Amino acid sequence: VNRSLDRLTRLSEPAPFEREALAVQYRRVRDLTRQLSAPLSAEDQGVQSMPDASPTKWHLAHTSWFFEALLLQRHQPGYRPHDEAYLYLYNSYYEALGPRHPRPQRGLLSRPSLAEVWHYREHIDAAVLRWLAEASDAQLAAAAPVFTLGLHHEQQHQELLLTDIKHAFSLNPLAPVYVPRPTYRHRDHEASAPPGWQRCSGGIVQIGHADTGFAFDNESPRHAVLLAPYQLATRPASCADYLAFMQDGAYQQPQWWLSDGWALRQAEHWDAPAYWRNPAPLGSAAYADPGAWQVYTLHGLQLLDLYEPVCHLSGYEAAAYAAWAGARLPTEFEWEAAAASVDPATQRYDPLAPHPQPLDHAAAAASGAGLQQLYGEVWEWTASAYAPYPGFKPWPGPAAEYNGKFMVNQLVLRGGSCATPPDHLRASYRNFFPPAARWQFSGVRLARDAT
Ligand SMILES: [Fe+2]
Repeated sequence: VNRSLDRLTRLSEPAPFEREALAVQYRRVRDLTRQLSAPLSAEDQGVQSMPDASPTKWHLAHTSWFFEALLLQRHQPGYRPHDEAYLYLYNSYYEALGPRHPRPQRGLLSRPSLAEVWHYREHIDAAVLRWLAEASDAQLAAAAPVFTLGLHHEQQHQELLLTDIKHAFSLNPLAPVYVPRPTYRHRDHEASAPPGWQRCSGGIVQIGHADTGFAFDNESPRHAVLLAPYQLATRPASCADYLAFMQDGAYQQPQWWLSDGWALRQAEHWDAPAYWRNPAPLGSAAYADPGAWQVYTLHGLQLLDLYEPVCHLSGYEAAAYAAWAGARLPTEFEWEAAAASVDPATQRYDPLAPHPQPLDHAAAAASGAGLQQLYGEVWEWTASAYAPYPGFKPWPGPAAEYNGKFMVNQLVLRGGSCATPPDHLRASYRNFFPPAARWQFSGVRLARDAT
C-alpha cells in the first residue's frame, strides 16, 4: 500500500501529467479491496450478521456505486448506468440520490450474484479509467475532489469489510480463520509494566486539518481551542490492564459506568470485551484467570495475549475503565494536540494481518518518543461528542451527506487501527461511532488532568 496516496491524489488543480498517477492510485486502491475479499468464499461474502455490518459483497458493489453515482453520472456526459437497479441496491444513505434498499436487509441480496458484482466492479473500473484519460482538463479539475473522495471512501470501506466479516465470523461456531496468524508478532513481558504519563502543556492549540493534503470536511475549519495542562498515557490500555479491571469487578459494579452504559451492559449481558470467551461465569476463579480466556480474531480463536492493546471495547467500557483507573478519556482536542508532533508514517500496516500487536518496548525506548501506538493498532475512544467545528461547512453536492448529517449521538475516536489504510492516519482525522459500538477495532488511552 502506497503511503503517499494523499500527496499523489491531491487534485484541487490537476495537471495533465497527473492523470497516469491518478490511474495508478485508483488501481491500487481498487486492487486492495480485491485482495481483502480474496480469502473469503462466495458464501462468506453474502453474510450480514447485524444491521450495522454489511456483507463483503455489498461493500464491493457500494464502493463501485459511489464512483458511478457521484463521479460518472455527474461528470461524464452521456454516461448510462451499468444497471438502474444497482442505483437502488447500493446507495447507502444518500437521500439526495434517491431511495435505497434497507440497510438491515443487505444480507438478503443473494442476487446480484458475486460474479455479477465483480462484473459491475470491472465495468466501473473501465469507465472511471476511460474518463480519467479522456476528460478535459477543466472536467478533470471539476471532478477531481469527488474522484479523490471515492478513493478515500473505498479505503474506509476496506476497514469496514474487515470489521464486518470479523463480526460475522465471530458468530460462526467454527470460528473461521480469515488469514493465518503471522509469525513476526513481538513478545515482550515488560509490556505488563503500567504505561507512563506524557505531560502536555495545553494552552491555546490549533485543531483541525492544516496542510494541503486530502482531509474530510469534518476536519475543518482549523480553529483555536483552549486546553488546561493534561497528561496522556504513553500507550493504549493492554489486555492485562483491562483484565485487572475485570478482576476488580468491572462488569459487576455500576459505580464506574455511565448510566446508559450500565443499562446496556445489563441488557446485553456484557462480561468482557467483544470477542473474549471464557466458559467460566462472571466472578468465578476461572473468570479471573488469564489463561482461561480466548479471543476470537481474524486469525481464528487465540489464547488471550495480555500484552496486546485491549480491543473491541464500547465507548461505555472505555469510560468505565478510565473511571476505575482514576483517570478519564481524553477529549479529541487533547488527543490531536498531543499527536500533532508524531509522524503516523512510522506505523505498520499489513492488511492481511489485521490484529493489534503488543508494544515493542525496545523499539519504543530506542525511538525516544513519548506517545506510543497512537496509530495503527486500535482506535481510541475520546470523551468528545461528534459535533461540527465552528464554521463547519459540508461539501457541496451529494457529498454534503458524507459526514455532517451524522453529527449527533456519537463519540469521536482518534488514531487509527490495524485495519486502517495508512492514508487515513493523521492527527486531524475524526472517526465516529455511537458509544455502544464494539465491532470496530476500538480501544482506550487514559488521560488525566495535570497535577
Ligand atoms: Fe459508503
